[in-house]
Amino acid sequence: MEDELLLVPGPTPVPAEVSAAGGRPMVNHRGPHFRSLYARVQEGLRYVFQTRSEVLVFPSAGTGMLETAIVNCFSPGDRVLAGVMGAFGQRFAEVAQAFGLTVDAVECAWGRALQPQAIAAALRPEHRGVLLTFNETSTGALLNLADVAAAVRARSDALVLVDAVSGLGGADLRMDEWGCDVVLTASQKALAVPPGLGLCAVGPRAVTACQSASLPRFYWDWRPYLRSAAHGETPYTPAVGLWYALDAALGRLRAEGLDNAFARHRALAATVREGFAAVGLPPLTPDAEASPTVTCLVGQAAPRLVAALQERGIAVAGGMGPLAGKALRVGHMGAVTQDDLRTLLAAARDILGAS
Ligand SMILES: Cc1ncc(COP(=O)(O)O)c(C=O)c1O
Repeated sequence: MEDELLLVPGPTPVPAEVSAAGGRPMVNHRGPHFRSLYARVQEGLRYVFQTRSEVLVFPSAGTGMLETAIVNCFSPGDRVLAGVMGAFGQRFAEVAQAFGLTVDAVECAWGRALQPQAIAAALRPEHRGVLLTFNETSTGALLNLADVAAAVRARSDALVLVDAVSGLGGADLRMDEWGCDVVLTASQKALAVPPGLGLCAVGPRAVTACQSASLPRFYWDWRPYLRSAAHGETPYTPAVGLWYALDAALGRLRAEGLDNAFARHRALAATVREGFAAVGLPPLTPDAEASPTVTCLVGQAAPRLVAALQERGIAVAGGMGPLAGKALRVGHMGAVTQDDLRTLLAAARDILGAS
């Protein structure tokens, strides 16, 4: 078996207990075992999403969740505002464009977080939705979602759609309190579950929107999911093994407590930011906008370091878009430990010849 110290921004290491749960004997997805699993997972997801709404679980990558959000909330010809802080904000905008929506983008420099005032200034009465990235994985910038959502809700009825793929579980996201309508993520990031589940929390205004939205949809349609949810099932075959893994992961997160998990992630981020700055690779984002789950470090040595670390069995990611060849990205979420980061930093110091 090939072991790797997995420090990319997803997939992330999966605790043994979670892997073991995922390997349990299969059960009937139309029977009582799955229905009680459904209820437990739903309760755990509502805790993590900080919502009273239903969290729909699809067999999917995160990108499928971007698509399900768009096709259920909008109709042909609708106009939306996309907040773009990097590659994943661009992707959300591209999904909307692919379905024929008119997309206005409000952007900021890569490495910065969009400011609430910038989004408020770009918002127009005809915008039916605002597409946001909570934690921009290409740059390691965290959006001030509380203030951004408040700025949108104060000025407009536009739906607030949040891609929280690399943030949820590692950074505080209060879906209901902050007035978000759709919050989506995937299993393979801070939840520390193998890839394969997409999670999409659907608030009351989004449920209403999906009844009249007229973009084409079938597999991603929320309506059959919401009907099946009422009796603890999914309309199509669920990825049962991953549901068991998710159940175990949610149990761990609940035992730790959200606030402790957020503090732990902030401490991991601090270790990476300080440790790499000391060897000449400072973080791209200012401290106040730093992601607790992903850090992008910039410096000429980055591509060489990514390759040399891989040779030592340590996987980190390279830069994306304009940062390709100029940056490395470290994922420090889910089950990643301070010990893992000490191993990473010791290897980086060794490779770069720093003491
Ligand atoms: C913020 C964000 N959105 C969307 C995605 C897409 O997820 P996936 O690769 O599972 O489709 C990612 C993946 O890294 C991400 O970080």
